[in-house]
Amino acid sequence: MKFTDVNPFNKKIQKRINKSILDTVKKKDFILGNNVNKFEKKFSNLSKSKYAVGCATGTDALILALKSLNLKPNHEVIIPGMSYISTGLSAALNNNKIVFADIDNDTGLISLNSVKNKISKNTKVVIPVNLYGQKVDIKKLRRIVGSNKYIIEDSAQAHFAFSCFDCKKSISNKCCKKEMNHNYADISCYSFYPSKNLGAYGDGGIITTNNRNLFNKIYFLRNLGTIKKNVHQYEGLNSRLDTLQATILLEKVKFTHLHNDYRRMVSSFYDKQLSTIKEVKLTLSKPGSSRHLYVIRIKKRNKLAKFLLKNKVPVQYHYPYSLNKAPALKNKIKKVKLLNSENWAKECLSLPLYPYMKLKDANKVVRLIRKFYS
Ligand SMILES: Cc1ncc(COP(=O)(O)O)c(C=O)c1O
Repeated sequence: MKFTDVNPFNKKIQKRINKSILDTVKKKDFILGNNVNKFEKKFSNLSKSKYAVGCATGTDALILALKSLNLKPNHEVIIPGMSYISTGLSAALNNNKIVFADIDNDTGLISLNSVKNKISKNTKVVIPVNLYGQKVDIKKLRRIVGSNKYIIEDSAQAHFAFSCFDCKKSISNKCCKKEMNHNYADISCYSFYPSKNLGAYGDGGIITTNNRNLFNKIYFLRNLGTIKKNVHQYEGLNSRLDTLQATILLEKVKFTHLHNDYRRMVSSFYDKQLSTIKEVKLTLSKPGSSRHLYVIRIKKRNKLAKFLLKNKVPVQYHYPYSLNKAPALKNKIKKVKLLNSENWAKECLSLPLYPYMKLKDANKVVRLIRKFYS
């Protein structure tokens, strides 16, 4: 059994991907080539955003987003205690003050109450993270932060996820409303790290926005601040989305919705089966989640992980420490206790999940967990 599958394609589709790679090589269209532009258009369409700018990584997407806002060093960026290091690093590398909000204990997402308590006169940005593919309720978050602060959505794990917050049918498997609530965010950032729901054959990222001014700024910033040849107007990065990666993504993106549905199906199976084991806490998710990771929480996390690994079930921790404990951020933050985030880090365990995963394999995982607790 695998933990994930970074290239879940049959021979026919693989041939198509290979051919499009070769076509790009033949055209020698390597830097900001035609396929970058084509992919940006495609991605903005599919994510229902007006503009998209490809860049080198999901981490860069966050850095570029922050850079576009002309923040000052005393400006505060609120981030959740539980996320991948990139969310924290982006604010640190942009020389802003990191302020942590704790997470909600059922969903693992940033706690809106905690955000409310952490807002100060210096707060300029909040970065909600759509952890494991589940959208933060940005409509509600916008009501809390008001219109004079920026919301940058970290959607690295949530390609084409939708929110079901106002939906009465949210217990059913299928979402009926499909609201992509990032319209309430100013900027959304995505990663194409290979294991993501839409992954490249290397690194990649993209930024979407409906704000034309922010789009223009980010468009220049990702290419060394170049507004025309040899005119470098802004302190930009060399963070272009590679044309070969855009070429691959243009083929792979055709299957992301299907793959998301597959992940949803396997996750629902896990939800149903595991809900009967009293030692297991499920992560509360809505049907619109892209189900990037399937994460449970348990008390004897390391023991169960060892048992599963011994039985050839690969598992991982997302993430083994909360961001307030990250060594890389130590000098940038004030000591703070984040009870839910810290507990989450101690108890979380990610189970195998990928498109076309056989229910037989998911069932094996469930059976072993049941056996461990029996
Ligand atoms: C929540 C989150 N934010 C940011 C990133 C950074 O993306 P990348 O690895 O493409 O830099 C990741 C990916 O690993 C992530 O999971």
